[in-house]
Amino acid sequence: MASSSSFYVFLCSLAVFLFLGSHAAKPLDPFGSTGIHLSIRKNMTSLQYYTPVEMGSGTGDHINILKYSAKLVIDLGGQLLWVNCDEYNSTSYRPIPCGSAKCKAARGSGCVGCNLPPRPGCTNNTCGVYAYNSIKNLLASEGLGEDVMSVYSTNGVSIIVSYDVPHFPFSCAAPFLLKGLASGTNGMIGLARTPTSLPNQIALAIKLPHPRKFALCIPSSTESGFGDIFIGGGPYYMAPYAKDLSKLLTTTPLLTNPVSTAPVYSEGEPSDEYFIGVKAIRVDGTKLVSFNISLLAIDKKGVGGTKLSPIAPYTLLHTSIYKALVSEFVKKAATKKIKRVTSVAPFGACFSTKTLSSTQTGPFVPTIDLVLQKDSVYWRIYGANSMVQVNKDVLCLGFVDGGSNPRTSIVVGGHQMENYVLEFDTSNYPKFGFSSSLLLHNSSCSHSRIF
Ligand SMILES: *[C@@H]1O[C@H](CO)[C@@H](O)[C@H](O)[C@H]1NC(C)=O
Ligand SMILES: *[C@@H]1O[C@H](CO)[C@@H](O)[C@H](O)[C@H]1NC(C)=O
Ligand SMILES: *[C@@H]1O[C@H](CO)[C@@H](O)[C@H](O)[C@H]1NC(C)=O
Ligand SMILES: *[C@@H]1O[C@H](CO)[C@@H](O)[C@H](O)[C@H]1NC(C)=O
Ligand SMILES: *[C@@H]1O[C@H](CO)[C@@H](O)[C@H](O)[C@H]1NC(C)=O
Repeated sequence: MASSSSFYVFLCSLAVFLFLGSHAAKPLDPFGSTGIHLSIRKNMTSLQYYTPVEMGSGTGDHINILKYSAKLVIDLGGQLLWVNCDEYNSTSYRPIPCGSAKCKAARGSGCVGCNLPPRPGCTNNTCGVYAYNSIKNLLASEGLGEDVMSVYSTNGVSIIVSYDVPHFPFSCAAPFLLKGLASGTNGMIGLARTPTSLPNQIALAIKLPHPRKFALCIPSSTESGFGDIFIGGGPYYMAPYAKDLSKLLTTTPLLTNPVSTAPVYSEGEPSDEYFIGVKAIRVDGTKLVSFNISLLAIDKKGVGGTKLSPIAPYTLLHTSIYKALVSEFVKKAATKKIKRVTSVAPFGACFSTKTLSSTQTGPFVPTIDLVLQKDSVYWRIYGANSMVQVNKDVLCLGFVDGGSNPRTSIVVGGHQMENYVLEFDTSNYPKFGFSSSLLLHNSSCSHSRIF
């Protein structure tokens, strides 16, 4: 995983946490908008989630029409946006000079040059930043540039008007960095707690009611519509459920991991990924006990704890937690007369579909609770999110052994995050809010939001 093979580089420049305010934020439109919306799609082969965005400006007759349509794999822990610039052309692209305030804010270091004809990705005296592919753990030092990005406002129900976010910073990467990304995608977009992340850049360009909040509704399939990224706070409506889900979230503090989990970082820099405090795991109400509970805490070296990362298709667990979960789940499944069958890798417990009945929340299997600050606060995972269909006859427990020495003990993966509203609030008391499974409300994260 991304965090396991980190290396350390001392960057001379001090981290500057906000872009100097050279561009005033635009107000939201007067048509009832409450935030900005982007959609989420899922590639069912690679199990990656991506968002389509329009960037750049066309030339000649096509000014503001011929934009670059990028499909960017969503990296919740990613620090900035990068795209393959071999296919990128735009009249509004500008390289960011080395040593500039914008370069420092993007944690840039050094200068990048190029001896080929100038184009986006080939400019002189350009701020160098790291572009990181967290799927294949590939890192490259590339030039930082900026260009316009088009996004839409929303009132939580539908899409309202299109906005141009000027000066959106991103790294122009070489095509090799696309390795492992779903074909048809052109780069990655970062949502981490960095000044260059998508939510923070949008909040800088557009005045939002809650500039430090964004939410995800991650789809399990995009056959019947798309999932959502909401930037700027609620309301969040997920038809046919009629209530505003932003009012119904359970919250838990977002924790700070004191040691960066990025591939490159300066000394003393905390992680900008999203960690939560899982205190225990329950299977049908029974707490798992046969592992060392201190694995659930983040220690002084930044090891242990629980982070959220849909780059992992399935939740990864430290071997001892994994064994405890499989063993209790198998025991509880047996009491429900669910027949265990031969395991199918990478999963450790598989069952015959013939012995499983189906419910509104997926196959009827033991529930798994991630218990948070106290016993009464938990994230409940039902069959649709715990089980994976590997073939017509077999369903497996969709958790994976993350090894006996992982940097982070629990990495909550995409399959477990689907069809919940998940809100990240990075204001003074950072917190993570989550809804109950939308399946309980006959809803999901696959729908269309139209004008
Ligand atoms: C980019 O667009 C400009 C203006 O139309 C054109 O001169 C240039 O050749 C294009 N570059 C590439 C790499 O397509
Ligand atoms: C960068 O500078 C070098 C040396 O001055 C020059 O040969 C080269 O063409 C420049 N590259 C670009 C992309 O302008
Ligand atoms: C999903 O990704 C796979 C592997 O890269 C690719 O073959 C497939 O065409 C993609 N599917 C869609 C719908 O884009
Ligand atoms: C649990 O792990 C901690 C940290 O690695 C260690 O100090 C402690 O002795 C362990 N406890 C048990 C019961 O193994
Ligand atoms: C969801 O749909 C099912 C079947 O269509 C129905 O029985 C159930 O009452 C509905 N539940 C809610 C919460 O609307």
